[in-house]
Amino acid sequence: MRHLIDILELTTGEIEELINVAEDIIGNPKSYSEKCRGKKLATLFFEPSTRTRLSFEAAMYELGGNVLGFSEAKNSSAAKGECISDTARTVSCYADIIAMRHPVEGAPYVASLKSDIPIINAGDGGHNHPTQTLTDLLTIHREKGTFENLTIGLCGDLKYGRTVHSLILAMSRYKNVKFVLISPDELTIPSYVKDVLESKNIEHKYIKDLEDAMGELDVLYMTRVQRERFKTEEEYERLKNCYILTVDKLKNAKDDLSIMHPLPRVNEISHEIDDDKRACYFKQMLYGKYIRMALILKLLEAKENGEVIKEKDVKTVKNVYKCKNRRCITNNEEGIENIFKLVDEKTDLYRCIYCEARAKKDQ
Ligand code: CP
Repeated sequence: MRHLIDILELTTGEIEELINVAEDIIGNPKSYSEKCRGKKLATLFFEPSTRTRLSFEAAMYELGGNVLGFSEAKNSSAAKGECISDTARTVSCYADIIAMRHPVEGAPYVASLKSDIPIINAGDGGHNHPTQTLTDLLTIHREKGTFENLTIGLCGDLKYGRTVHSLILAMSRYKNVKFVLISPDELTIPSYVKDVLESKNIEHKYIKDLEDAMGELDVLYMTRVQRERFKTEEEYERLKNCYILTVDKLKNAKDDLSIMHPLPRVNEISHEIDDDKRACYFKQMLYGKYIRMALILKLLEAKENGEVIKEKDVKTVKNVYKCKNRRCITNNEEGIENIFKLVDEKTDLYRCIYCEARAKKDQ
């Protein structure tokens, strides 16, 4: 079964195909209006959403299909203690494809192991958000015409901002892409993203002052400080206003800078910037519908053709390490084995297969 749990499951060629299909949908929407007639998308949202859930639902309706699901965990049998894989098995009986958002990292992956239909990760905790990345890639492609030779600034909550993680991983596969990581020390990128930048020798730097980098950026990707992921309210309060983009801060920016944001915004982009021609975030969310239409078509076709992704030949160990990430599925649901994969033979580095937290030697 072909799912989409991690953006790197799509090759760059497949991303190009999805973008081409999305462009064709934008140009010829009527020719797609019957493509999913008789098919059902289940949107299983255990965490709040406006854009992702509604754009998935709009996408399926515009393909001629139907939608069922829930928008809150409390309206599902998860509230009675049902495990995620039983929910996935159940919904497999009623729908053809699932888009799942969950606050627990690795939950959509666990669901995919028992599902008879494709599962799309619509955001798992502070880990990944591959379909936001598809949205971001379509936006970058439309704005810049390329994914190569770009300097991308990512600003704000780079630690818990799942869209940041998936976007860096996706963009790290293109030529001469440089990253400027703008955050306080407490909110820098997690080690599994850092490892990719370092192991692939991708040019990147860490800075604290947004204005220091402004003049060199082709894309500025602003993010919200993710209040819901903090251990304490005090820590959130201390960091919540770390970056606020104002017109004044753009004075050294390039004329063709693309200002992006996955949204929702709190206060990190001043509303006066909304009318600046460089602001792309409202276009970005519209594009989300078209690229999700392309993805639904791709995964349903893959299911029809019996397509599978070949498992990578990766060494794993069971129940040797215990994941220390409090947001990992292994620490939130009974009966899930601790499985770690070897990611670096030289340093004997293992990571949790569900949330990518590093295995600690003393475990
Ligand atoms: N970008 C994004 O995931 O937005 P929602 O939380 O509104 O779905």
